[in-house]
Amino acid sequence: ADLALGAQIFNGNCAACHQGGRNAVIAEKTLDKAALEQYLDGGFNVQAIIYQVENGKGAMPAWSDRLSEEEIQAVAEYVYKQAAEAAW
Ligand code: HEM
Repeated sequence: ADLALGAQIFNGNCAACHQGGRNAVIAEKTLDKAALEQYLDGGFNVQAIIYQVENGKGAMPAWSDRLSEEEIQAVAEYVYKQAAEAAW
């Protein structure tokens, strides 16, 4: 997992709405483990994060035409690790 790449992708593309692991659009849908367990389709795992990043959901845009597979994998692993370790 390229966590440095993941952090870079996150800061450049996701932090606009998810600064500090929060959610600027729907406050309760944070990137904390408990919120991901509750709201993320497919549960708290890397594949489910990849799916949402690729396809979007509600007001969150899809990234499959803007980020490469490698970048999406890296940002999903970064989000998962930050949530798993309560590191936001
Ligand atoms: C939800 C990741 C970019 C808006 C989420 C969730 C994840 C995620 C994992 C699920 C959180 C939960 O349900 O508790 C990412 C990543 C991004 C990104 C990795 C960058 C590639 C953005 C941007 C916006 C945004 C730029 C705003 C324009 C939202 C919204 C939700 C959400 C509104 C809630 C969707 C719903 O359930 O209706 N995001 N996000 N996201 N994100 Fe993002």
